[in-house]
Amino acid sequence: MSDAGVALSLSGVSKRFGGLVAVDGVTIDFASRRLNAIIGPNGAGKTTLFNLISGEIPADAGRMRFRDSDILGLAPHEVVRRGISRTLQIKSVFGGLTVTDNVRCAVLVHERVMAPLRPVSSFRAAAARADALIDEVGLSAHRHRLASTLSYGDVALLELALALAAEPRLLLLDEPVCGMGPQETERTVDKIREISRRVDVILIEHDMEVVFDIADFIMVMAQGAILATGAASEIAAHPKVQEAYLGSPEDD
Ligand SMILES: Nc1ncnc2c1ncn2[C@@H]1O[C@H](COP(=O)(O)OP(=O)(O)O)[C@@H](O)[C@H]1O
Ligand SMILES: [Mg+2]
Repeated sequence: MSDAGVALSLSGVSKRFGGLVAVDGVTIDFASRRLNAIIGPNGAGKTTLFNLISGEIPADAGRMRFRDSDILGLAPHEVVRRGISRTLQIKSVFGGLTVTDNVRCAVLVHERVMAPLRPVSSFRAAAARADALIDEVGLSAHRHRLASTLSYGDVALLELALALAAEPRLLLLDEPVCGMGPQETERTVDKIREISRRVDVILIEHDMEVVFDIADFIMVMAQGAILATGAASEIAAHPKVQEAYLGSPEDD
């Protein structure tokens, strides 16, 4: 695959914590314009892989290509600058600010990062961008509410808007529907699907139903390594995956 069709290319990416190999020589091309998912049992190394991609922790070995450049070893803010965002943790939402002000802040911070010397002359443009993002994630009805009063599912949508404020080319989502009920899950999944039409997405997800429903491509991890890759139908039928992740029939 040429870089043009690839959202992110990993080659031999490894990370060890003491005696534990958390990520073990992961080599994969995630295609552009395809909803990529990573699944695997707890402790498989999924989140660690995201931490390596986003520069939060240094890798021990490997290469990472994103849009014709090597990003392995870059600091987290540099990775964001290049165009990779991940959903932020709940603590990064300012509970004492309204939805609108949270997103405006994120837009302004991003503009400041991209053009530190330019005066913030276009506050109105930033406000318009923030409004558009709020519409996109479906929070228009709640724009004037304090973030602290939002439902759990709405906070997740706000986090999506904050991640999108950095104008990413690639969005990393780590278990975005974790803790949600069926309705909130469905709504969030719909949003993610919509967003994936304009931004490349890699999604870590524990809920198999969600993954099989939403993902165009699935990478299965177990014990730090890739166990299988393919479309949902292939993964569902894969004997190794059934064994390692879905459990053997006797376990049910
Ligand atoms: N900072 C760390 N220090 C030591 N061990 C870690 C650290 N982060 C993750 N691990 C270990 O690495 C393994 C993979 O963890 P993680 O990537 O969080 O798995 P997953 O997201 O697939 O559940 C686990 O055994 C976990 O305990
Ligand atoms: Mg995890």
